[in-house]
Amino acid sequence: MTNIIKASTLAIALCAGMSTHAAEFTFSSNINKDAQTLVVFYSQDGKNKQFKALNKEFKQHLQRVIDIENFKGDYASVAELIAPQNSKYDRILVVGTGKQKELDKARIAKLGGNIHARLLGNKVTTASVIFDDVTGLNNNAELAANFAHGANLRDHRFEKYKQKASTETISYTFDVANTKQTQKTYKLLQSIQAGVFLARDLTSEVATHMTPVDFANAAKELESLGVTISVLEPAQLKELGMGALEAVGRGSEQGARLVVAHYKGSNDAPIALIGKGITFDSGGYSIKTGASIARMKSDMAGAAAVLGTVKAMALAKADKNVVAVMGMAANMVSQFAVAPGDVVRTAEGLSVEILNTDAEGRLVLSDSMWYARKHFNPEIMIDVATLTGSKVGAVGNEYAAVFSQDDKLVTQLTLAGKQVNENLWRLPLGYKDALKSDIADLTNVGSSGPGATTAASFLEHFAGDTRWVHIDIAGNALAKKGKDEVSAGGTGFGVRLLSEWLLSN
Ligand code: BES
Ligand code: MN
Ligand code: ZN
Repeated sequence: MTNIIKASTLAIALCAGMSTHAAEFTFSSNINKDAQTLVVFYSQDGKNKQFKALNKEFKQHLQRVIDIENFKGDYASVAELIAPQNSKYDRILVVGTGKQKELDKARIAKLGGNIHARLLGNKVTTASVIFDDVTGLNNNAELAANFAHGANLRDHRFEKYKQKASTETISYTFDVANTKQTQKTYKLLQSIQAGVFLARDLTSEVATHMTPVDFANAAKELESLGVTISVLEPAQLKELGMGALEAVGRGSEQGARLVVAHYKGSNDAPIALIGKGITFDSGGYSIKTGASIARMKSDMAGAAAVLGTVKAMALAKADKNVVAVMGMAANMVSQFAVAPGDVVRTAEGLSVEILNTDAEGRLVLSDSMWYARKHFNPEIMIDVATLTGSKVGAVGNEYAAVFSQDDKLVTQLTLAGKQVNENLWRLPLGYKDALKSDIADLTNVGSSGPGATTAASFLEHFAGDTRWVHIDIAGNALAKKGKDEVSAGGTGFGVRLLSEWLLSN
């Protein structure tokens, strides 16, 4: 009996006009013989059992290619060949999976993205993947689902401004060891994917069409998934004493918003995810110079990541109590904008001398963290922010920086990141004396010490007794080029990491 389960793509199109691209995956216990390209795997140390399903001539042909090409199955190496004349396939890809004991879901997801890009480059629309004998650190279902996940993540595009958006995508049939289990695993990954795609689209959207109000409206679309959304306007922020967030918004017409998205899938104390939501960071009066200013539409990627995570948890109906608190503002120059040297008061009560209006992220985060603590009494608070250029200098854009006094949380999050190729590197908290002000309780920039750390130490003042982690994703939010399972544009960095952490702890 053929056992085919169709993996329907999630038909929840959030934000009209945004990309809803999706490759298609069918997990089967049979090999699809009608596809254009056949994909088979070859491990460095295991036997190439995969070929058992092929007929003798086909097998010999493959073996010949492997011998002649001296193909060893190194991770991500590919031997690409035109299929023999008597075959229905056009091409065959022999994909190296490296050492079996190193093959985990992170590596296979990467490979899925990588191979997907290659197939798209070959203008392939149907692919048959013989996966049933692929083994590694995770079980076959986990590996197959993550290969599909990686491919679909790479398939995502943001093309609403192109006259001709690309329509090409790939329909895959996987021959797997356990269709039901693979389908189940993939279904969960689809929820996470949807969260990643939301975060990417919000990040890729241009600043004029992704204002604090636009973001709040996008958040409201999660109500249909059982997420409670509330939005505070500037007058309410003032009323609550949130002078730092309110001040950053003052330079733009709409002003600031605090957007709260609560998914209550359990009665546990909530996990609060705090997001920096600067919809455009001009620097304010301490204006940015240089080309990098054009990338500052992505300065709300932290807010996008935490909202995407809430969406993922809601779609997965996870038994988690998660609340995202997002401090939204456009950091602009105007007659009404904050002037360098101004002093503002945070809801926490601490006053801040704004020596540099370009250090605005910590200001919106300080009041957001206060709000999360005051209104949700969270067990753990994690903020995600494109916070400092200094972080990019320290660890680049292949790692995000993590700061916390809580070793256990750092370990858990770092491990979760490894599972999904969203890696964290720990940097120190400290240099607190660098934030002393002559006229206020704090300055918003460090007078000395590493910038990423002084920014983190600023935030620590607003964590109270709550277990708290700061993740600086500057440089991670917007990709110039597609790579592995990440497509060009907004990356959604943080959604997979936080989802993995939430679901495994
Ligand atoms: N949004 C930027 C940080 C940033 C830089 C994000 C590069 C992504 C890529 C942040 O608001 C900022 O401007 N930080 C300043 C702080 C400084 C004025 C203390 C910085 O890092 O230069
Ligand atoms: Mn800035
Ligand atoms: Zn910023």
